[in-house]
Amino acid sequence: MNESNKTSKQDPVTRREFVGTTSKTAAAAAAVSALPIERFAHAQSSPGDTIKLGLVGCGGRGTGAAAQNMTTSAEGVRLVAMGDAFRDKIDKSYDNLKKQKNKQVQVKEDKKFVGFDAYKKVIAESDLVILATPPGFRPYMFEEAVKQGKNVFMEKPVAVDGPGVRKVLEVAKIADKKGLKVGVGLQRHHHPGYKDTIKRLQDGAIGDLVSMRAYWNSGGVWDPRLERGKEKSELEYQLRNWYYYNWLCGDHITEQHIHNLDVINWLKDGFPVLARGMGGRQVRADKKYGEIFDHHAVEYQYEDGTWMFSQCRHIRGCWNSVSEHVQGSKGRSDINRFTIFGEDGNWRHRGKRVNAHQAEHYPLVDAIRNNKAYNEAYYGAKSTLTSIMGRMATYTGQPITFEQALDSKIQLMPDKITWKTVPPTTPNEQGEYPIPVPGDKMWARKVV
Ligand SMILES: NC(=O)c1ccc[n+]([C@@H]2O[C@H](COP(=O)([O-])OP(=O)(O)OC[C@H]3O[C@@H](n4cnc5c(N)ncnc54)[C@H](O)[C@@H]3O)[C@@H](O)[C@H]2O)c1
Repeated sequence: MNESNKTSKQDPVTRREFVGTTSKTAAAAAAVSALPIERFAHAQSSPGDTIKLGLVGCGGRGTGAAAQNMTTSAEGVRLVAMGDAFRDKIDKSYDNLKKQKNKQVQVKEDKKFVGFDAYKKVIAESDLVILATPPGFRPYMFEEAVKQGKNVFMEKPVAVDGPGVRKVLEVAKIADKKGLKVGVGLQRHHHPGYKDTIKRLQDGAIGDLVSMRAYWNSGGVWDPRLERGKEKSELEYQLRNWYYYNWLCGDHITEQHIHNLDVINWLKDGFPVLARGMGGRQVRADKKYGEIFDHHAVEYQYEDGTWMFSQCRHIRGCWNSVSEHVQGSKGRSDINRFTIFGEDGNWRHRGKRVNAHQAEHYPLVDAIRNNKAYNEAYYGAKSTLTSIMGRMATYTGQPITFEQALDSKIQLMPDKITWKTVPPTTPNEQGEYPIPVPGDKMWARKVV
């Protein structure tokens, strides 16, 4: 949430540089795809065709992603439809995008859709749809996009619970069969500094990878945006303040810390098999902060027995760090600083500053135009599950395995939502929400 949502004016990755540096990777990805690719009308468009872009979830990130996608080609991408639960969000986003990308923004009044079914209508208008609502909605919106045969850019996390992750994994396979392209907003994968550093570490620059650390320790995000008493309903209150409700957000270990957990998964080329941890609400304990914790500390074990030590905190005035680190048998690396301190000398990636939010759109659009295999949903879903495992471990105080989290029957997001839906969590008469109690067996049954 703290990372830039804006299209950087100093973004140094030009289209020419991009095509030069990624064509080999994309070609390799296409070559290894063993799945037969059925050709669907919207799965690819020839270079020169205009990609019709749709935006679902017109908040900060969705608006940023739409602008960044349009930046890939002034002639080749047009925003044609927008959808949001609230009209004011569409209007603000539209005005913002119109200022940035005037001619590319061609959303007629009757293509601005409001409400819980808006996503279906936006998807119907689009070749490529950006899904940037709160993450609880992601699995079924992704499912609908693939059902309609559309390409997808979806923000992380891609779910908030085990059933949601399972759905995304199933739908990802259907997307492959249909030849659809899927990008996920774990933008570090598209930063040359990260790519260079991870490759060197995987090639043995510091010997065996012995232990890893991942942090998102910060002062937190926005305070509740809608005061109590100004909402039309409890549902509207929670939607506008979605960060503080797990069925919408998944807690900050899932919403934010996923980025750092995902980098370590990428480095390890695998996903943790076990999570153990502790956490709570120590400072951000007021009822206005809904039901999420303000700190989590989790140790994750990988299949080879190595451990990742993870912390995420939303408390002001403390030690802050948003970073990833690895200790090896022959050195160490501050991955996020693109530095390696090895027995054979030190190394630092010295490339230009890159806006990874921008960089991640070039390969997706390239894959759509040139029908290259492209699907980031698998690792997006499994890194999402890594963060969910951590939340389950801190909420219950119990060790949680990958299978337990994936097979969990606890579905936080209701199957269908209308304005009459009572949210899955509701406050008592004092306005307080139920908060998980580690060690409590009744709570554990609600969490895993
Ligand atoms: N990759 C990154 O670095 C990064 C950075 C910020 C946010 N994000 C992710 O982007 C997503 C959106 O975050 P944001 O900061 O833009 O939040 P936001 O609150 O600014 O925007 C979310 C929008 O979705 C709308 N919405 C809610 N429910 C909806 C529904 N059912 N149908 C249609 N619209 C609905 C809201 O009204 C709001 O306009 C989150 O998943 C977040 O984790 C990623």
